Amino acid sequence: MKQKYARRLAGLLSATVLLLPLSATVAEEAPVPADEAGGSETIVVYKTPTCGCCTKWVDHLRANGFEVDVNTVASTAPVQAQFGVPRRVGSCHTAKVGDYWVEGHVPAEIIQKLIDEKRDDIQGIAVPGMPAGSPGMESPNPVSYDVIAYGKDGKFYKFATVQGKSSS
Ligand code: CU
Ligand code: CU
Repeated sequence: MKQKYARRLAGLLSATVLLLPLSATVAEEAPVPADEAGGSETIVVYKTPTCGCCTKWVDHLRANGFEVDVNTVASTAPVQAQFGVPRRVGSCHTAKVGDYWVEGHVPAEIIQKLIDEKRDDIQGIAVPGMPAGSPGMESPNPVSYDVIAYGKDGKFYKFATVQGKSSS
């Protein structure tokens, strides 16, 4: 009787021990909801046919898991005007992700940050000009540059500061 009880207890214990690591694994590998997974959004890009750095930026987005829909246009100016991108933050290409516009060589991780934060006070983000070391503008002399957010209040804010990457 006593022995039978001990055996049952031992069986119960080993079952518990087996269950613990199993449930821990399940918790760790729980699927991430689609809208929280990296690079899950489609980015619609507008670029001119001869823009090489634009193509390199598109490659950078795809390498980081984004779905990219590329539209070749004679000029990006009408698209920028339609999106409401202020001229002073303009660059070589413009894009749309969800309700936001994305102007210039913005790193994929910063676009993901914008998506993740679900900011409803921002119209779009921009890397004005074409800073050396931004994605698509790799350079042996990279600089650090700011990503500017354009608020729905019509004001500019610093959204992120990025250290440019060296090409070598
Ligand atoms: Cu460019
Ligand atoms: Cu470009």
